[in-house]
Amino acid sequence: MRIGILTAGGDCPGINATIRGVCKTAISYYGMEVYGIHNGFRGLLDDDVIQLTENSLGGLLTMGGTVLGTSRVKPFRKDRGFSLSDSRPAALLKTIHDHGLECLVCIGGNGTQNTAAMLAKAGVNVVMIPKTIDNDVFGTDISFGFDSAVSIATEAIDRLHSTASSHQRVMVIEVMGHKAGWIALHSGMAGGGDIILIPELPFNIHNIGDVIINRLKKGKPYSIVVVAEGIPTFNGKKAAQYIAEEIEYETGFETRETVLGYIQRGGSPTAFDRTLATRMGGHATELIAQKQFGRMVALRGSEIVSVPLSEVAGKLKLVTADNDLIIQGKRMGVCFG
Ligand code: F6P
Repeated sequence: MRIGILTAGGDCPGINATIRGVCKTAISYYGMEVYGIHNGFRGLLDDDVIQLTENSLGGLLTMGGTVLGTSRVKPFRKDRGFSLSDSRPAALLKTIHDHGLECLVCIGGNGTQNTAAMLAKAGVNVVMIPKTIDNDVFGTDISFGFDSAVSIATEAIDRLHSTASSHQRVMVIEVMGHKAGWIALHSGMAGGGDIILIPELPFNIHNIGDVIINRLKKGKPYSIVVVAEGIPTFNGKKAAQYIAEEIEYETGFETRETVLGYIQRGGSPTAFDRTLATRMGGHATELIAQKQFGRMVALRGSEIVSVPLSEVAGKLKLVTADNDLIIQGKRMGVCFG
């Protein structure tokens, strides 16, 4: 059997570990041939395909990014769906056909989930593996990349404590997450953030000012505010800038902002992400061997399972008010909403 593998959307730690997991299981265990497609769906449009061998896999487990390259290219127009009369889907199908690919492994986030579901609907054999630092892929408890991003953000928050306390300042740190607050919530709790602001739960900026002033009254003249990039702001301001300006205005305290940015996506995956990525890669290959297509690999509790793409595509997994970490954060006075 011959399969193709591609990585699409933003990169994250653990993608290479998944590629390795798929290839080792497919080539060595099942005797399949694996073809790597460069730069996500763009590689299918450009016919940019190479055969992967066991020799291609050295050092992949710990390596950040994706050796296959990635892009955010979408092969079909959202408004038209997957119409075979469009040139892009037709080119994509031609590449799959020309290389004799009997299944396509798509490693990606929400956009990839949608595309994979459309491909499945059009009769292409696909298996999707969820990856994203944002942890917002619907259908899986955790995506690999998330744990690494949370570790990086937590370390950054840890480091802000000493400079915040030395200068008696308010430090606002903005973390990624797109429309979801998973990274802010988990790194904020792990890093001992005094205030955690996420897009899913509303907050009142006056209350935030009060929290900071009350901390001063209790002898704590500095505060760490962890803010998710997706919170609502005004005048197109970035989350950290908006919150820092509002806090300075409300409290009169000297406030500084840090935008952590792409550091959260770079570098080597944590042990948890390496293991999760490897397990997901192995499971995806097993699905292919059993000819179970049109499915997404998922972590449910501690089990690796799979779910039909048609049931999960087009949905976002957001933080909800009944999340246990939110409940604990509210008890501790650091979460709102
Ligand atoms: O999906 C991951 C993510 O890092 C988001 O948190 C962020 O908003 C987005 O990608 C930015 O990525 P890019 O600049 O590559 O589009």
